[in-house]
Amino acid sequence: MVELNKIKKSVAWAALKYILPGTIVGVGTGSTVSYFIEALSTIKHLINGVVSSSLYSTNILKKYGIPIYDLNQVNYLPTYIDGADEINADMHMIKGGGAALTQEKIISSVSETFVCIIDESKKVEILGAFPLPIEVIPMACSYVSNELIKLGGIPKYRKNVITDNGNIIIDIHNFKIRDPVAMENRINALAGVVTVGLFTSRTADVVLVGTKFGIDTIKNNH
Ligand code: A5P
Repeated sequence: MVELNKIKKSVAWAALKYILPGTIVGVGTGSTVSYFIEALSTIKHLINGVVSSSLYSTNILKKYGIPIYDLNQVNYLPTYIDGADEINADMHMIKGGGAALTQEKIISSVSETFVCIIDESKKVEILGAFPLPIEVIPMACSYVSNELIKLGGIPKYRKNVITDNGNIIIDIHNFKIRDPVAMENRINALAGVVTVGLFTSRTADVVLVGTKFGIDTIKNNH
C-alpha cells in the first residue's frame, strides 16, 4: 500500500511537465489526482488557475489556495489531468470510481490534451473487471437497472452516494466489455442515464504509467 501510494505520487508529479504556464488546468478526481494537486500547488504562481471536476477536488484545491474557475468562464483548456479505474490498449477507460464521471467527461471533452495518470494495475486487456459506474437520474433507477440486466450485467445501486449533480450511481458488476465503443453509445442512449463511465469517445492522449521501476509514457496516435 505504501509502495502503491509512492507510485501514485511519482506519476502525479510527472504530470507537471504537461502544464503550460499562463493557462487554466483541468483537474480530475481521485487519490492520484490528489497527489497531482499537491504537485500543482508548487507551481500555482505559474498558472492562471484550474477547473475542477468535483467538490472533493475543489476542497483540496481551495486548501492550497489555487484559483478555481467555472468551466463556462474558460475559452481555452489545453490540459486535463485525471486518473482512471481501468484503461485498455485503445486508451478506452472506465472512470467514475469516485462518482465524478459526469464532470470528468465534460471537462476532458473541452480540453485539448487529456493526460491520464495511473499505476500499472489499471492497465487491462478487456474492460469490465472494475464495476462500470453509471450516473442515473434517481427516478430512473429501476428502469435503467432492468435495461442493464438485459445487456448482460449485474447492476448494483451504490449505497450512500449522491453525486455532485444530485443523482445516484449504479455500478455494473460482472461485465466483460468486448465492444466499449458500442457499449458507451448503448448505455448513454437509455432514458435516465446522465453519463456512463466508459470513455471511448474522449480517450486519453497521453498515459503516464507509474511502475516500480519508473514511469512509462504512452502516446495515443489517433
Ligand atoms: C473518479 O471519479 C475516477 O474517475 C478516478 O479517475 C478514478 O477512480 C481513479 O482514482 P484513483 O487515482 O484513486 O485510483
